[in-house]
Amino acid sequence: SEDKLRVVRDRVRSFPDFPVPGVLFRDISPLLKDPVAFKALIDLLEDHLRASFPKIDVIAGLDSRGFLIGPPLAQRLGVGFVLIRKKGKLPGPTESISYSLEYGKAELEVQSDAVEAGQKVVIVDDLLATGGTMRAACELLARLKADILECLVVIELKALRGAAKLEAIRFHSLLQYD
Ligand code: PRP
Ligand code: MG
Repeated sequence: SEDKLRVVRDRVRSFPDFPVPGVLFRDISPLLKDPVAFKALIDLLEDHLRASFPKIDVIAGLDSRGFLIGPPLAQRLGVGFVLIRKKGKLPGPTESISYSLEYGKAELEVQSDAVEAGQKVVIVDDLLATGGTMRAACELLARLKADILECLVVIELKALRGAAKLEAIRFHSLLQYD
């Protein structure tokens, strides 16, 4: 597990001043490109969830980088995957919410029938920065009366204190950066 964590950490690259000056961008492209590291990542997330929760009904992933991690994880757990998308992408009845991002503003949407009331959901994304995106996703799923077990990310940027924004909702990250 320590070895797997090291393999994963070694495949995250950093780019200063992207996409705007002052932001240090953590890039998971090398992690996705390396099948050993990508498998180690999903192994670690699966182990964490199996050890933490006796039952999970659904994995929800955040548009767009959460879509890279959520589906393989959901397959491992034998549960379904649902999309939380940026506004205007989902047909049919939806719930939507606007939120502020580390750089800019955006709106998230979920289909009203994505989860049933009381279903146990884990929300996954690649990274937590200010926590605005994850908090908005929690609010959307709360409107559908989901039972949110945890918000789970690969990378947490601790200096931005995003986890505090999630208040009482349980949070877990695999890798932390200051
Ligand atoms: C990035 C990242 C997280 C979010 C974190 O996504 O993938 O989803 O920002 O920021 P926050 O904690 O400050 O809200 P982004 O909106 O850039 O879009 P993408 O996933 O489509 O690349
Ligand atoms: Mg994102």
